Parts: sequence; C-alpha cells; structure tokens
Amino acid sequence: MSATSVSPQALAILGGSPVRETLLPYGRQSIDDADIQAVVDVLRSDWLTTGPKVGEFEEAFAARVGVGHAVTFSSGTAALHAAAFAARLTTGDEAITTPMTFAATANCVLYQGATPVFADVCSDTLNIDPEQIAGKISSKTRAILPVAYAGHPADLDAIQKIASDHGLVVIEDACHALGAKYRGRATGSIADMTVFSFHPVKHITTGEGGMVATNNAQFAETLRRFRNHGISSDARQRQSAGQWHYEMVLLGFNYRLPDMACALGIEQLKKLDASLALRREIAARYTAAFREVPGVIPPAMRPDVNPAWHLYPIRLDLAKLTADRAQIFCALRAENIGVNVHYIPVHRHPYYVEKFGDRGGEYPVAEHAYERLISLPMFHAMTEQDVSDVIRAVGKVVGHYCQ
Ligand SMILES: Cc1ncc(COP(=O)(O)O)c(C=O)c1O
Repeated sequence: MSATSVSPQALAILGGSPVRETLLPYGRQSIDDADIQAVVDVLRSDWLTTGPKVGEFEEAFAARVGVGHAVTFSSGTAALHAAAFAARLTTGDEAITTPMTFAATANCVLYQGATPVFADVCSDTLNIDPEQIAGKISSKTRAILPVAYAGHPADLDAIQKIASDHGLVVIEDACHALGAKYRGRATGSIADMTVFSFHPVKHITTGEGGMVATNNAQFAETLRRFRNHGISSDARQRQSAGQWHYEMVLLGFNYRLPDMACALGIEQLKKLDASLALRREIAARYTAAFREVPGVIPPAMRPDVNPAWHLYPIRLDLAKLTADRAQIFCALRAENIGVNVHYIPVHRHPYYVEKFGDRGGEYPVAEHAYERLISLPMFHAMTEQDVSDVIRAVGKVVGHYCQ
C-alpha cells in the first residue's frame, strides 16, 4: 500500500491521520489577568522578596488547608529538604518511603546524610503499603515519607499508627495532592509535616515554589530559619523593629520564595476549588470511558478518599495486548497526545543503583506497575474537545493492539 492510500483511521504512527493536529501536553498552568496584575503590583512595590506577600500567602494557604502554620519555599524539593531537616534526620538514620515517586522524595533523605529505605506499594493506588512499612522498621528508622501518588492520599491513619507506635515523624509528600481529602480531612492537616509543590503542572503555580504545612510550632520555626540561612529573624522583621542585629543559629540555605511568586500564589489559591472541580470532572469522564476499553485499567479510587487528580495514570493490561508500553506510548504521542510516565521507580535510577546496589525485584508491585503505566493529559484548562481527543486516541491505539 502506498503512503497516500493509508486509511485516515490507521494509527498516525503507521501513516494515518493523528487524532489532533497539535500536541496536547500532559499538564500545564492556567494564568489569568488577575494573576498577571498581582505580580505587576509587586514589581512596582518596595518588596520583591521577604516582603508582605510571603506572610499573606502563608496565611491564606494555612487557612485553606486547615493547619496552624504554612511555610513557603523556593520549590517543593527545598520544602522536602527543610522538612527532613526539621525532623532531625541525620547520618546513620533511615527514613521509609515509596519507590513510586519523583526522586526528590527520597533525595531529601540523602541531603541529610540519612538513608532512604523503600517499601513496596499497594497494587490498587500505588501508594506506600503500611504492611510493607511495618516490615522495614529498624532501630535506625526516624521518619516515614508517604506520597499521595497522582493526588490520591496514602492510608495515613495506618501510617500514623505505625509512626506513633515507633516514635517516628511522618512527612507527607503531597506535591500531587493539594485539595485532596482523606477520610474527610484535608491533605496538609494530617501528617506531622506536609509538603506541596507549585511547579506549573501542579494545581496552583508560583513558577517554582513549595510549602510545608504543619500544626507543630517548633517545626514551623525551624523551617522558617532553615529557608533563611539559619537566621533567627528576617529582613522585614528587622526593618520594622528598627534593628540590624541578627544571629545565625543553624546551618540553613537560601530557599526563600520571592514576593512576586507569593502574589501569584495568592491569586492561584483563589481558583483552587474551580481547578479541583474540573480535574474531578475530567477524571470521571476518563474513567467512565476507559472502563469500556479492554486492555486499559483506569486508576483506582478508594471510597474514603477524594483525590486531587494531579495525574491520571492508566495501566495497560498487557495480557490483552500485542504491544508493550513503549509501543503504545509512541503510538499515542504520534496521535499528538502528550502522554508521560510516572514514575521510573526511584531505586532503578543509576545514582541509586550505584549507591545502594541493584535492588531490582525487591519491590515487585511497583515494578510490575511501572512497566504498564501511562499518564494521560490532566490539567484544569483542558477543553471538552481535548478530553474527547484523549479518549478517542486511547480507544484507537489500544483497540488496534488488542488481541
Ligand atoms: C511527588 C513529588 N515530590 C516532589 C516534587 C518536587 O517538587 P518541585 O518540582 O517543586 O521541586 C515533585 C515535583 O514534580 C513531585 O512530583
């Protein structure tokens, strides 16, 4: 058959017409005029950093999440580092976390000279499995870092119980889960410290940015010092008190989030509920459609959880398909659907293999899932047509390879 006679229904990767003309990304920000104006107003003000917008953003965020303290950081990664520091993780300690995450979750343990110990995940949610955590506790364990994978909270009651039985700190990595609920409680108000990210693909953005939410005043004080070189007061506090003297009381970093970013965060936070509602609508449409597609397993949702749907990761039922994940991924990209994969299990990254040896096979649930995962586009500015295009492309591609 010549290239010109290929049927338009054929897969784009085989010469057919793509489902859409332009690439639909897997995630992206939404910025409106109010966001832009808020940043411009700060640029015209006296304080570009460590000014009034920092505290305003922190207060609004703490109120939204229902927590006593919220501390801004220059990224989610910096926020994780600070939380690991506040939990007093240090050389010789261990912290238990999930392999099914972005490397930053485990890296923050390494920054403190401690050792991340992975525990396998539950096969439905791909969140850390409390039973697996229990088997990894040692005399060196100091913290547990669950991740709300894709925006679906982990089983935090079970994790808190293990933590309180063993005197451990729980740092929840909720970079995917702003606005999620677990057993009626807001993500951010449950763990000892909860970490959020404001990267552009997240629910709200400040460009780069992060936050730690906590009800513990001592953690909050340490977090504030850690992000400001370990200094016990900030520039604005000193200016308003008419003082120049300051003291560095611990070894911190410059992890401050500037006022332009905080002003953007304040505006973005006002739109969080609308963003969550749209993501939940998109997830419901996807799940209803994919239940009808043999070879596709939609993400699980436990009944006691209301996820925030940062990601929408499907799993392929490879037994029903004549292609593997890589082939299906490429075929979807050819249809102009910007699919992605979350995540390469952390222990499989070359840095971790070199440092801790090849742990392949030790986390069978995470590894089995990894071979089958594809994240579909999920962001609140998606149009109905965008959602239909994704559903059509998945049906077309998976249908082609279904045996
Ligand atoms: C689960 C998880 N943890 C941590 C981070 C790090 O956040 P940031 O990119 O803001 O440093 C991310 C970012 O994608 C993430 O997905």
